Amino acid sequence: MSTPETDATSFHRKRKRFIGGVLCVAILTSAIVSAVLICRNNNNVSPISIDHESSNATTTSAPTTPSVQITTSPASTDNSSPIATAPTFAPTIAKTSPEPDVTRRGTFELLETVPHDPDAFTQGLVFVPRDNNQHELYEGTGLYGESDVRRVDLLTGNVLVQTELSDSYFGEGITYYETESGEGRIVQLTWQEGTVFVYDSQTLQPLANRTFSTTRNEGWGITGREKDGNKMFVVSDGSSYLHFWNQLDFVEFRRVQVTSRENLEDDPNAVNNLNELEWDPTTDTILANVWYSDTIQRIDPDTGLVTVEYDLSTLYSDRDVTSDVFNGIALVPGTSDEYWVTGKLWPNMFRIRLIDEPK
Ligand SMILES: *[C@@H]1O[C@H](CO)[C@@H](O)[C@H](O)[C@H]1NC(C)=O
Ligand SMILES: *[C@@H]1O[C@H](CO)[C@@H](O)[C@H](O)[C@H]1NC(C)=O
Repeated sequence: MSTPETDATSFHRKRKRFIGGVLCVAILTSAIVSAVLICRNNNNVSPISIDHESSNATTTSAPTTPSVQITTSPASTDNSSPIATAPTFAPTIAKTSPEPDVTRRGTFELLETVPHDPDAFTQGLVFVPRDNNQHELYEGTGLYGESDVRRVDLLTGNVLVQTELSDSYFGEGITYYETESGEGRIVQLTWQEGTVFVYDSQTLQPLANRTFSTTRNEGWGITGREKDGNKMFVVSDGSSYLHFWNQLDFVEFRRVQVTSRENLEDDPNAVNNLNELEWDPTTDTILANVWYSDTIQRIDPDTGLVTVEYDLSTLYSDRDVTSDVFNGIALVPGTSDEYWVTGKLWPNMFRIRLIDEPK
């Protein structure tokens, strides 16, 4: 039996696999060339760090360095122009020693269940502040011809305000940020179109678009983060890398590979297929969905290490055949450990509390 949703979903998967295969050959070649160049230019850098993730092996390990520092070429900072071309990068590989820590286990407690639009192919979920400490829920959805960004009634799942993408754009993650003059904006990634859209957060009127590039040149998840007064976006692209963009100009300044490690003796393993992201300001960690996994990964954004892996396999285990993967994490405003979570084409959203198992 087949429905348009499942056909589209399977098409989505096949596209991702096909692109992954093609990229694999190209990226492996360039990784080898870079490795040779580094070897020739700097005898002190040893052993050579190769971009493991990009080789698209499913269980790769990153024994040397999980961090790649990016130096950017001067970018256009003309903010008056809604179109900015993605800058070209000259990546340099920096050695950092991984934190002496391991990935711990976590669970969850289910607090509340509400309806969710079962036709929403959820790619991004975020609360946006309004006046008087009120917050409203926003969702970004995917699939060609069905993508949108919407404000949603939390308790009913009904769409309150909506802006649709044109048919040639596949919507991905969304997040909220404020311009230098304090105007609220929603930013939305697209999957393979290399375009990010900016909307007025109240009206969802599209204001601008920009181009971007990532490890895989895809857009999957995005969240805002503030550290030492610097406001940034953290972006996933289905690889094991997180990309850090300056919020002022959307220019990338850093990448880090996400790895997990069960025991201190183990080499860290790259965590691929990073999807929807949410920043936890209390602990300055990034929570991530992983495509095709009923887990949430808590990531240290400085080292890339997964500090906790939460098992959510019992959250929605009697899954409807039309429901797709777990995707969508939004921190409940005013709390430090409660989240609304959902999935693509899921009929419900769940309010949960994340619980770390003791060390
Ligand atoms: C590698 O390819 C497989 C399918 O062939 C895909 O599921 C996976 O996401 C890809 N991984 C990366 C890191 O690109
Ligand atoms: C992107 O912005 C340009 C310049 O404002 C505009 O002409 C174009 O239509 C926009 N593209 C989309 C898909 O909205």
